[in-house]
Amino acid sequence: MTDFFKGIPAIKYEGPDSDNEFAFRHYNPDEIVMGKTMKEQLRFGAAYWHSFAWPGDDPFGGQTFDRPWFGNTLELAKLKADVAFEMFQILDVPYFCFHDADVRPEGATFAETTANLEAIVDYFAEKMDETGVKLLWGTANLFSHRRFMSGAATNPDPDIFAFSAATIKTCMDATMKLGGENYVLWGGREGYETLLNTDMGRERRQAGRMLQMVVDYKHKMGYKGAILIEPKPQEPTKHQYDYDVATVYGFLKDFGLEGEVQVNVEQGHAILAGHSFEHELALARELGIFGSIDMNRNDYQSGWDTDQFPNNVPEMALAYYEVLRAGGFKTGGTNFDSKLRRQSLDAEDLILAHVGGMDACAAGLKAAAAILEDGKLEAARNARYAGWDSANGAALMSDDLTTIHDRVLAQNLNPDPKSGRQERLENLVNKYF
Ligand code: GLC
Ligand code: MN
Repeated sequence: MTDFFKGIPAIKYEGPDSDNEFAFRHYNPDEIVMGKTMKEQLRFGAAYWHSFAWPGDDPFGGQTFDRPWFGNTLELAKLKADVAFEMFQILDVPYFCFHDADVRPEGATFAETTANLEAIVDYFAEKMDETGVKLLWGTANLFSHRRFMSGAATNPDPDIFAFSAATIKTCMDATMKLGGENYVLWGGREGYETLLNTDMGRERRQAGRMLQMVVDYKHKMGYKGAILIEPKPQEPTKHQYDYDVATVYGFLKDFGLEGEVQVNVEQGHAILAGHSFEHELALARELGIFGSIDMNRNDYQSGWDTDQFPNNVPEMALAYYEVLRAGGFKTGGTNFDSKLRRQSLDAEDLILAHVGGMDACAAGLKAAAAILEDGKLEAARNARYAGWDSANGAALMSDDLTTIHDRVLAQNLNPDPKSGRQERLENLVNKYF
């Protein structure tokens, strides 16, 4: 045991009336919601990078967190792992997620960096065995180091493409070795700052080639997990190629990979793209590419990707409503890609941030399940489209323009508009929160 979380108890469910800060009020892991336990429905995961690797910097100032494991040695990386697994156990989160760069010291050469990663993977394997905590997904950080400043797959320099491809191989190997349920690609620098120096056609083809190689390697290795792309419109680059779910789908279609790759939808990225979270989730479901979620909100005023813990139950309810309509998570889960505010210095802050986030998600899930199980919202939606189930409606999917034209004439059609009933439905939904 390290002494970082000293005195902080394991968090248990105490119910909505509890005044204990160190308890769940809504997340009751064993409670059944729509046929599964909440633990199985939500599949919570904690993100290594924000909680253990981020120093608290922002564009105007550097490190605010003073963590005993900060530094670039294997020994410190192991201390970091010890603390991380202590947090996973305090919270009883079933999963975690990491980038290579979060967990291992950077070496002087590619080979040394890989050896460091492998050493930590072995250390993780022991800890996962001891604790039962599992890996939701692994990924490569192809955006922080200066070599990636002009992109990884989309870099104008083929050597950097090669370096990135080799790095992805090591990260896929690490993920597979640890039994990770997904492998994620987030293209932070896969975009451009100015079109004046950018060959968009080439960069897109390079990105398509990289993704094809990832999919090929997955099959070569017999990996059963999912490959996920995480859309984001901009920041760090001015424009990112994986702008949003619709853009990613177009990209997958273009390269014939729509059956191979799904999306990891992040609330903050959805907002940054000018969408609601539920829009992105619903679209992913309809396109058959829904995979997993990153659970972190943005600040609605600043417009930045502020990666805050979720605390808005109605927002979570609408999000989990779409997740439940998609049939729930399969390989995916709820990853807290959320970070503390940089003034929240204490170990307790880190625990309580997750407790609040887990509770907000749990309350949202329960509300979403109640809306679905009640069926009133679905019934209203279905009633709105009922005409399409009639003979005339169904025929529109096969008739041609002339036939339709002639029928409109023959039936002397002059349809009246019908209410969309938005406010009534908003009132209905509010009853469940
Ligand atoms: C970065 C991004 C985050 C993404 C993660 C994994 O930390 O900010 O949104 O989920 O990388 O790719
Ligand atoms: Mn994310």
